[in-house]
Amino acid sequence: MRMYDLIMKKRNGGALSQEEIRYMVNSYTAGEIPDYQMSAMMMAIYFNGMTEEETLSLTMAMAESGDTLDLSGIAGVKVDKHSTGGVGDKTSLALTPMVAACGVKVAKMSGRGLGHTGGTIDKLESFPGFSTEIEIDAFERNVNEIGISIMGQTKDLAPADKKLYALRDVTATVDQISLIASSIMSKKLASGADAIVLDVKTGSGAFMKTLTDSVALAEEMTRIGNGAGRKTIAVISDMDQPLGFAVGNILEVQEAIATLRGEGPQDFTQLCLCLGSYMLVAAGKAEDEKQAEKMLKEVIENGKALEKLAEFVKAQGGDPSYVYQPQKFETARVQREIPAPQAGYIQKIVCDEIGICSLILGGGRETKESTIDLSVGLILHKKVGDKVEKGESLATIYANDEGKCEQATERFLAAYTITNVKKETEPLIKKVILPSGWNER
Ligand code: URA
Repeated sequence: MRMYDLIMKKRNGGALSQEEIRYMVNSYTAGEIPDYQMSAMMMAIYFNGMTEEETLSLTMAMAESGDTLDLSGIAGVKVDKHSTGGVGDKTSLALTPMVAACGVKVAKMSGRGLGHTGGTIDKLESFPGFSTEIEIDAFERNVNEIGISIMGQTKDLAPADKKLYALRDVTATVDQISLIASSIMSKKLASGADAIVLDVKTGSGAFMKTLTDSVALAEEMTRIGNGAGRKTIAVISDMDQPLGFAVGNILEVQEAIATLRGEGPQDFTQLCLCLGSYMLVAAGKAEDEKQAEKMLKEVIENGKALEKLAEFVKAQGGDPSYVYQPQKFETARVQREIPAPQAGYIQKIVCDEIGICSLILGGGRETKESTIDLSVGLILHKKVGDKVEKGESLATIYANDEGKCEQATERFLAAYTITNVKKETEPLIKKVILPSGWNER
């Protein structure tokens, strides 16, 4: 087989066979196919797309290009959850202990990621002593004993994706739906869970800006997951404004803790209940979503979800007292209100700009090497549809640097549109994609 022939086939609109895709992925990972040939292939795929069979073959080849986790030593159905990412997205922090408190085994691998704030791992590391760099034995033991563990992605998980993603990043070939779907799902499949619930965000603060693209990505990912024998569900949720009120690592951890105490923002709580319901049903712990939601609300009310977070933090070396006294987290030195320049209703928030404010304050990573300041960020006081008086605070900025605080304030004000017309709020959950046969259970 020659890479040249495969490039020409794809360039001319042909479909690659499973053997051809495997050859291409394995040889590229082994360094036997140069970047320039793989770049040409990615561009040919970008323009001509891939069939469902090609996408599944690419995903499986990448998933099997390195270590795959065997979770069969953990009793019961293991469920994973993945978000395509957005502003104020602290969902895993509250959702995973809620679900584990209902008796579902949560075995999750997470990344740090580049972005407006850190990833789940960075947020968890806000708990002094907490580590996600644990051995696989400890990961399995924690899932078996307390029902939950989150570890950092090992470097040998789907190495083909790692290499290809880096190449796509510099060749303008990231935003192709089959390539994104296979990239995300290769890591999920290699992580070994039996069921996967995907939170696909849509809107200005999301990777996918339009509902049409978000639905297409969700459909592609569920097709891959279900095709690979993992029960896969996708929830498409709004990211046209930040989720909840907190944006920034420690601030988001505090908001997740409040949510586990039943004092969280309405939208964030709704999303956790929705995703959690599907996780419980997929794991066979509840008959249907309604029963599952009742179980989730119960573990919030009786304190078991909060206790589960404390157990989880302790099991991974963190100080669980912060779960019960979140005021112990050290927040940023400068705290400044942003007054509304006029009275009216919040018409629009350019969501990704709020993420950039957090990045300016030092809460996110611009490059893989950047260190992040866990203590900075913003707490929004007004969201779309809210009424505001002139001078009333739109948000509190948490900063450690006056200059950055000024810069973020300017950017923040430009992201808010206030008019005299009341705006109806959009539904948070836009669509759910279920595996076939789900409703005939
Ligand atoms: N995230 C991934 O892991 N892969 C992509 O291709 C895009 C986003």
